[in-house]
Amino acid sequence: MATDPQPTAPRHPSDGAPATTSFQWIPIRSLAPRHRPRIVAQLLELPGMDRYLRFGHPASDAQIGRYVDLIDFDRDEVFGVFNRRLQLIAMAHLAYLGDSQRPHAAEFGVSVLPRYRGRGFGGRLFDHAMLHARNRHVDTLIVHALSENTPMLRIARSAGARVERDGGDAEAVLKLPPETLGTHVEELLGRQAAEFDYNLKRGAQRIDRLLDMIADVREGVGHSGGLGSQ
Ligand SMILES: CC(C)(COP(=O)(O)OP(=O)(O)OC[C@H]1O[C@@H](n2cnc3c(N)ncnc32)[C@H](O)[C@@H]1OP(=O)(O)O)[C@@H](O)C(=O)NCCC(=O)NCCS
Repeated sequence: MATDPQPTAPRHPSDGAPATTSFQWIPIRSLAPRHRPRIVAQLLELPGMDRYLRFGHPASDAQIGRYVDLIDFDRDEVFGVFNRRLQLIAMAHLAYLGDSQRPHAAEFGVSVLPRYRGRGFGGRLFDHAMLHARNRHVDTLIVHALSENTPMLRIARSAGARVERDGGDAEAVLKLPPETLGTHVEELLGRQAAEFDYNLKRGAQRIDRLLDMIADVREGVGHSGGLGSQ
């Protein structure tokens, strides 16, 4: 039976990158437009203070709905971690900026459900975003966070980002090394393994439902005195 992903170990640098993956793998899936309802559900679970930390203001339910509606899945990347009940417990949005000032920059935003925090999901999603960004010729990763957002700033700093504070706001800027053959192989293997994990969880869910149905049928048969009672 599939279990919830359990990353624990700290992240380690590799191949000269500021920080990338460690041996503690967790399944991170790329999300698509069909996942919008799950993304909305994940964000709506965030309490007021978390919405403030994530969006820079205490986003209302309607504002969250609009934000998700407007995610451009062709241009940006959205990644997620599912638990064994296929609930989206952590997600990140990598938005490619492509503006004239920073033509090869992308902005990272992330949220982990409160009960899953402190287990490394936020850090892993950041690593994953770095890998994807490098493979798409992004040279700068940017995070906008409130200065009080210690976990987010720790994630960015430990990857090697330079953090500049401006009153209550902070901007973390991380320069990324170019892609390598290794980063492409890593992305490909990670994607396939995450798909495999997701299908296992889906299969486990189907078996659970089937067992529930069988139990219901048995109970019904028992209450009616069995098949041979008529
Ligand atoms: C920021 C957030 C994504 C971090 O997720 P997470 O899964 O708990 O992060 P991690 O477990 O990878 O921990 C990241 C680092 O912060 C540290 N940390 C975690 N919680 C902490 C806390 N309450 N106080 C101080 N440090 C904390 C961890 O020890 C870790 O540091 P380390 O790598 O040096 O050990 C999560 O807190 C969240 O969803 N917050 C609300 C939304 C938000 O703030 N998004 C960021 C702005 S876009």
